[in-house]
Amino acid sequence: MALPIVIDTDPGIDDALAIMLAAASPEVEIRGLVAVAGNVGIDDTSANAAALADLLRLDCPVGRGASGPLRRRDATAAHDVHGADGLGGHRLPASARTLEPGIALLARLVDESAEPVTVVPIGPLTDIALLMDERPAAARRIGRIVLMGGGARDVLGNVTPVAEFNVWFDPDAAARVFAFGVPITMIGLNATHQATVGRAHLLRLFASGGPVADLVGRLLDGYHGTDADGRGGMPQHDSLAVAAVVDPAVVTTVPAFVDVEDRGRLTSGMTVVDESGRFGAINAEVAVHVDVERFRDLLDTRLSVLDATLRRG
Ligand code: BDR
Ligand code: CA
Repeated sequence: MALPIVIDTDPGIDDALAIMLAAASPEVEIRGLVAVAGNVGIDDTSANAAALADLLRLDCPVGRGASGPLRRRDATAAHDVHGADGLGGHRLPASARTLEPGIALLARLVDESAEPVTVVPIGPLTDIALLMDERPAAARRIGRIVLMGGGARDVLGNVTPVAEFNVWFDPDAAARVFAFGVPITMIGLNATHQATVGRAHLLRLFASGGPVADLVGRLLDGYHGTDADGRGGMPQHDSLAVAAVVDPAVVTTVPAFVDVEDRGRLTSGMTVVDESGRFGAINAEVAVHVDVERFRDLLDTRLSVLDATLRRG
């Protein structure tokens, strides 16, 4: 049976690929998408989430979540990486869907599911923290959180030397989520910087040549971030988190105690990862190694099948 998932997202170029991978994977069933402010403002992330749901013919509700961090007032969007509207300048047809209030939607989707829902946050953690504060009983029903955020070991930050964007944007929310007690898998920069993908890794998809190939090609071309390996690949931050749900063998994890620096002068937004467990009780599985070939193959296989399906109409 497919695992029920809810994706909380700030599309976002790599968010779009992540949603496509989930839509293309029979191992999971997308019960809902909830947008959060992050890469761009909430008007654009929610419009992009709804437009992607239309493109992918997702039969699930789309929610509009938080418009900004819990407390942080100096967080800024990532227009330099994701363009003015979040999809690298590529506008999808506007959706006519009615958006539901995001936190209420998250609570309903988690509450009404017979099986525990896996929540996949691939943007700032504001919505998830609000769910935990406003609807704790529903939040405790979450089966697992598989989040893209933070960094461990050799790669800690991309906004500052020690802070990754999703955690840096709303460190108070991230601290709340790691302290709450739901099982967490953390897919941080140390893992996503291993998972680089460029056009050369998606040959079946581009040979297929349909709407998904078109969009993914434009998204990869519109990405203005730094190549992690200097060889033309884009670090697949968000789709690696989805891949870890679809095919857990893609990542190797270690248990750790994770907390978030929410007020440091130089370190605000840093995930502090203690693999020894001496400084706090283990609260997360942290990805440390990626089977890159397996990940690229999963992405290429799944997206090319999705492309052919959508092309047939
Ligand atoms: C994360 O920040 C965003 O820019 C990406 O979409 C990803 O979720 C990487 O640090
Ligand atoms: Ca994202």
